[in-house]
Amino acid sequence: MIDINTQVKSRERVSAHGEVFTAEREVKAMCDLVADECRRFDSTFLEPACGDGNFLAEILTRKLDALENDSDFERKSLIALASLYGIDILPDNVTACRTRLYDLWDKRRNFDGALRTRAREIVTANIVQGDTLNPGEIIFTEWTHDDSFIIRRVKDFKLSEEVDGQYELPL
Ligand SMILES: C[S@@+](CC[C@H](N)C(=O)[O-])C[C@H]1O[C@@H](n2cnc3c(N)ncnc32)[C@H](O)[C@@H]1O
Repeated sequence: MIDINTQVKSRERVSAHGEVFTAEREVKAMCDLVADECRRFDSTFLEPACGDGNFLAEILTRKLDALENDSDFERKSLIALASLYGIDILPDNVTACRTRLYDLWDKRRNFDGALRTRAREIVTANIVQGDTLNPGEIIFTEWTHDDSFIIRRVKDFKLSEEVDGQYELPL
């Protein structure tokens, strides 16, 4: 049963974009299916129709909870943020998802300005507007980290090239 107050914004958006948000109970149940991965700070997730981030927010919360007592929280929490990718066709959902993930991260500590700037750069690069069914122009960023650098950009890549690669079968 769909909760019309929390899962739907408008009849028009449902009919044009299939926009029905997943209820929290189902989000949690689905994340439970991959519970270990959701707690690993550097495991990568891509939500191809992320909406305002119901799944990505739950995964980030689990990752940050798992790190809560880690002495390297600042660095690892940023890596956790950088491990989450999302695409949505509606720009307002993209903005809402970026803000939601950033705020979830930001409220955990009194981070300094440089970390906050990097966190904003990460959510802007990782949560993008686009049509997942036509991924030709969707550009993502790969991030890397080591013990001394918190996190830095490696390269940008086209999602379509990654998808094509995965679908290639060996002869
Ligand atoms: C069913 S909602 C789900 C949102 C979120 N994943 C959740 O479970 O709450 C579907 C989302 O997909 C987006 N969407 C629809 N068609 C899309 C497409 N071709 N590419 C990317 N996003 C799309 C809509 O804007 C909407 O936010």
